[in-house]
Formats: sequence, C-alpha cells, structure tokens
Amino acid sequence: MAKNTSLSQAKKAKKDEFYTQINDIENELKHYKEHFRGKTILCNCDDPRISNFFRYFAQSFEHLGLKRLITTCYKSQDIDLFSTEGCEKAVYLIYDGDKNKNGVVDLEEIEVKPLKGNGDFRSQECIELLKQADIVVTNPPFSLFREYVAQLIEYNKKFLILARMSSLHYSEIFPLIKSNQIWVGYGFNLSMVYKSIYQNTEEANRKYVRSKGYDPDDNYIKVPAVLWYTNLDHTKRHEKLILYKKYSPDEYPKYDNYDAIDVNQVADIPMDYYGIMGVPDTLLGQFNPDQFELIGIGSGKLGRSIGITKNYRGRTDLSYTIDGVSKCPYSRILIRRKKNKV
Ligand SMILES: C[S@@+](CC[C@H](N)C(=O)[O-])C[C@H]1O[C@@H](n2cnc3c(N)ncnc32)[C@H](O)[C@@H]1O
Repeated sequence: MAKNTSLSQAKKAKKDEFYTQINDIENELKHYKEHFRGKTILCNCDDPRISNFFRYFAQSFEHLGLKRLITTCYKSQDIDLFSTEGCEKAVYLIYDGDKNKNGVVDLEEIEVKPLKGNGDFRSQECIELLKQADIVVTNPPFSLFREYVAQLIEYNKKFLILARMSSLHYSEIFPLIKSNQIWVGYGFNLSMVYKSIYQNTEEANRKYVRSKGYDPDDNYIKVPAVLWYTNLDHTKRHEKLILYKKYSPDEYPKYDNYDAIDVNQVADIPMDYYGIMGVPDTLLGQFNPDQFELIGIGSGKLGRSIGITKNYRGRTDLSYTIDGVSKCPYSRILIRRKKNKV
C-alpha cells in the first residue's frame, strides 16, 4: 500500500516536471516591467540549472532594476525514479546583480545556500523566503495550483504565474477572480510548448502531446489552454471591449433555470443589455473590471451558490430550450455590464 502511494506520488510529480521556454516568459513579462523596479523576485519552483525564469531575471536584473532574485530548487523525494535533471539537493540561490559590472551573470555572484528540507514551497524555510519577496513569478506544479495560490494570498504577495485555464473554475480560484484579487495576464488561452523530462513515452503522447507537427524525437510537450494568473495590473485590463450587436430576445435565449441570457461568443455581447449574461470563459482574456461585473460561474458548487438549480439532465448547469429541445451550452461565466462606466 505504502509502495503504491509513493509510486502514485512519483507519477504525479513526474507530470509536473516540464519547463517553460524563454520566449514565452519574455512575451508575458515585457508587459510588467514597471512593476519589477526595486523589487525582490522569488521563483520558488525553479531549478536554476534548467529554469528560464531564473535565467530571464538574472540576465535582465539591471535592465529591470531588480533589488534581489531568490530561486528555490525543489528536490522531489522520488526524483531518482524518473528524473535526469532534477535537483540532487534542495538549495536556494540569491543573486544581487552584476556586482563586478562585467555585463554577465558570473557564478561567483550567485550565492548558493542549502535548504534543510526538500524545497517544498509550503515548508517553513521556503515560507521565510516567500516573506522576503515582493513578487513571485513562476510556473508552479499544476497539480498543486490551489495550495500554491492560497499561500500567495495568505502572505499577501504579488505574483505572475502560469496555470491551466480550467483552474479558473476551481471553487477556490473563481471567487478570487470575481473579487478582483486575481485576474488573467496578457497571454490567454495559450498553447504552450514546454521542454519536458518525458522522452516521447506513450504516456506523454496520451496525456499531453496534441500538436500535429510534434516531432517524436523532441523532448517537448504541448499543453493547450494555459494562461497567466496575476495580481499585477496591466494595460490590457483597462482596454474597452467594443460591442456591436443589439439585444433581441430571439437571438439571445434565456436560460431555463437562471434569469440570464446566453451569449454564444464574446464578440456578440449586446451593447444595450444590462441584465445578467452567460458568456464563454474566453471573456476573461478581455475582461475590463470597469466595463463588466463578474456574477459567477454556471456550473457545479459555484453555480448552486448563485441559485442555479438542477436542469433537465439533473446537472447543476445552465441550459435553455429552443423549439422544445434543451440545449446545454459550454461552460459559461455570468457577467453584467456596468452602467455609466467605460
Ligand atoms: C511545471 S514545472 C515548472 C518548472 C519551472 N518553474 C519552469 O517553469 O520551467 C513545476 C516545477 O515545480 C516543482 N515542484 C513540484 N512540487 C513542488 C513543491 N511542492 N514545491 C516546490 N516545487 C515543486 C517540480 O519539480 C517542477 O520542476
């Protein structure tokens, strides 16, 4: 039994072992430069030998005007079962910039310190490092996303992190989005190609690789529908979504079990409707909190919490009927236009 548990933990850990590419990091982080000046950055799920987050911040330390970069490296207990690149020993690194002013990051400028435990972001010694940080930037393990975010909120940290789009439906995450404590970054619904420890295994192909152009000899996996979650402000969040369509009851059916209309595409949000509307999740990629208010999410526990009752299939979800045929739309976020705003 114990062996099974540790094997399944190892399998779970293995799924988390893939690495963000430098261009994806640059593409997002260029929108937040003003936030980084004078700040201590923590990358707390990052083996500095592989992590491009570490590379990005170390190399642009002076350009961004950072105060300090701290990186912690996690040593999985089961790393020997699968990893060729994992840390043998949990350590943390401190980089305070190009002290000798030779324009490069020298090894002697990086302070490497041992950790007593395995570098788990939840351990007390890692929490002490978290307390020193102003902004946390990384791709944390997807499987621990709920706990990871809860800790950032508990310690009142600014952050910019990557995770799956589906995480926004978590009952722990959506309320934070609704209350504007978290929002999505620039990069939304990305199909990310990560460097992986998987060597073209069947498991990797089944679970991750969806790219038609995938080269089986390459050590890369494609993960669809990934996005950046953050609480750092950015300009896209203040852009007004231009609306063109006019409301008509025929074109926008009402749900059977909730007083809201269904909008099939973000571009079809009517400009003259101020009641509640169910819209696709992709609205969050263009969400301006001055233009719209988030009411809730259409399904499950969160749906029930705003009064969505069971529909004809016995599910808690939004549904509507056309010509006697009940249609279940895809996942919907419920929003309302703000009056007299942008
Ligand atoms: C998706 S990978 C991303 C790695 C790196 N942040 C990047 O983006 O290239 C997640 C990383 O989190 C590490 N990790 C897993 N569990 C962890 C934990 N409890 N505490 C800290 N790091 C953990 C894994 O070893 C893995 O390298």
